[in-house]
Amino acid sequence: MTSDVTALGDYQFFDLKPARRDMHEEIVAGLREQNKRIAPKYFYNEQGSALFESITELPEYYLTRTEMAVFDRYREDLAVVIGGGTCLVEYGSGSSQKIRKLLETGQPEAYMPVDISKDHLQSNARALHRDFPGLSVYPICVDFTQPFELPEIANGWKRVGFFPGSSIGNFDPADAVIFLTNIARNLGRGAQLIIGVDRKKAADILEAAYDDSQGVTAEFNLNLLKHLNEELGADFVVDEFTHEAIYNEDLGCIQMYLRSRKDQQVNVGTETVEFARNETIHTENSYKYHVEEFQALAEAAGFAVRSIWTDDREWFAVVLLEVQ
Ligand code: TRP
Repeated sequence: MTSDVTALGDYQFFDLKPARRDMHEEIVAGLREQNKRIAPKYFYNEQGSALFESITELPEYYLTRTEMAVFDRYREDLAVVIGGGTCLVEYGSGSSQKIRKLLETGQPEAYMPVDISKDHLQSNARALHRDFPGLSVYPICVDFTQPFELPEIANGWKRVGFFPGSSIGNFDPADAVIFLTNIARNLGRGAQLIIGVDRKKAADILEAAYDDSQGVTAEFNLNLLKHLNEELGADFVVDEFTHEAIYNEDLGCIQMYLRSRKDQQVNVGTETVEFARNETIHTENSYKYHVEEFQALAEAAGFAVRSIWTDDREWFAVVLLEVQ
């Protein structure tokens, strides 16, 4: 009998049991503030995740395809970074399409997807374990915006973090430094981080990316209110709000809002919230960086810049950092 058995990678699920915050309490507190706001994590119910997938394919939303093109263009450099003996740690593993590209490019020993959403994490991790038979897969269920430790099993390898999609732009710069400081500790000295950063560019290009002509981004933003209706028994009339995405040049950031079309009252569970006509709920920031600005931010968090990879138009940067 001929044997052509490929060594099967290991699989272990690490549940660090993230604390669940009280959604009702958090939403009402945000809507009681002077400037009303809702945390962006509430975008992602099932419908929200599907809408976000559609956003990544829109002609105006250049980010995803530009980042993928950078991965292609620099695949030889990436193959060196994630060569044999590497454990690849992805913070927020929604984007399985991107990790597949990296897994095909390099030959890491192990992949650790880190995510708060347990079911999603399990099913994506199992699919990868099936599709990359030699790869060990160790999903970790945890809120990665809080400090945590990688399981000991990560110790024997060269650790490389992965944080694509310009998700770093969804933190305010001061919080981005805190977050990256935690990631540096999490990965350990000498480890590297591959991070996607959207670069500053003309306001009309940025605004179109967050307010597309087919209205998918508007639907994504407004879906937040549907999510609150379903999850908290709120009674938002979705049509009485409009989507807005504005590039704030001073802050260097796209700001997304939901704007009330009229004076209205909304019940959120047991609470009533008043909206004046034109009042807004702030739902998301997406900061854009000059490469030098991002470099300073990364250095403040204890990283050194090793490489900066970009596309022809210089719209998006994939930056290789190393923990000092
Ligand atoms: N981090 C991405 C970005 O800032 C993804 C994202 C978050 C997004 N919220 C969004 C994209 C709302 C479009 C609309 O672009």
